[in-house]
Amino acid sequence: MARGEKIIVALDVNRLEDVGRLVDKLRPVVKIFKIGSELFTSCGVEAIDIVRRKGCRVFLDLKFHDIPNTVAKAARSLANQNIHMFTIHTIGGLNMMKAAVEGAREEARRLNVAVPLILGVTVLTSLDKDDMKSVGIDDSVQGEVLRLVELAEEAGLDGVIASPNEVSEIRKNVKKDFLIVTPGIRPEWCQKSDQKRVATPKEALGSGADYIVIGRPITASSDPREATEKIIEELG
Ligand code: C5P
Repeated sequence: MARGEKIIVALDVNRLEDVGRLVDKLRPVVKIFKIGSELFTSCGVEAIDIVRRKGCRVFLDLKFHDIPNTVAKAARSLANQNIHMFTIHTIGGLNMMKAAVEGAREEARRLNVAVPLILGVTVLTSLDKDDMKSVGIDDSVQGEVLRLVELAEEAGLDGVIASPNEVSEIRKNVKKDFLIVTPGIRPEWCQKSDQKRVATPKEALGSGADYIVIGRPITASSDPREATEKIIEELG
């Protein structure tokens, strides 16, 4: 895989014009774009269509967490829309995760298309030990993350989303082709904004991540293409 293909750009914008502009600029070097809650609730499936029409892949980050039947139907719908990867919350439980895998596989088989990759969100990086305790979880953040990763693997998920701090520990505990996708990435030349536990692109990939998700260091840059190329160069 070329180094640039390990970068997923988060399209955290709310207008289709910005989606088109960014994808046009970046598609020579970036192949996967993340569409999250802001863009999806602002522009809906049109945002997905734009990315796909321009020949790129969609990572739909809506973090599903619902009853198994509902999540399975959403997973089917995404298989139908040729989504490359999407997220669900592992805290939704084993049955919910299995239902998502089954729904996506069945629909992809029926349509004879590729099965979307399903990634599990473990403990959000915005939560600390006190937040976890307040919702009844007494374990350490890392202990809880590893338990949820094990459950995700058992359910047949393709991988997880993890903070850079957790990547190496997760990597030791999962099979080789289990994907680890990491946000919270900041090149050294970039402001940290609201991300606290950050790593550089090279550190994150070096600790075992398969993909890094990068938003503002690229999208808020005056020249997104140049920023991306600088990051790719730094990957060595
Ligand atoms: O702009 P920035 O590089 O911080 O964007 C990171 C992207 O990754 C955002 O779309 C954000 O929602 C997502 N994300 C994150 N931290 C997590 C999970 C997801 O920053 N723990």
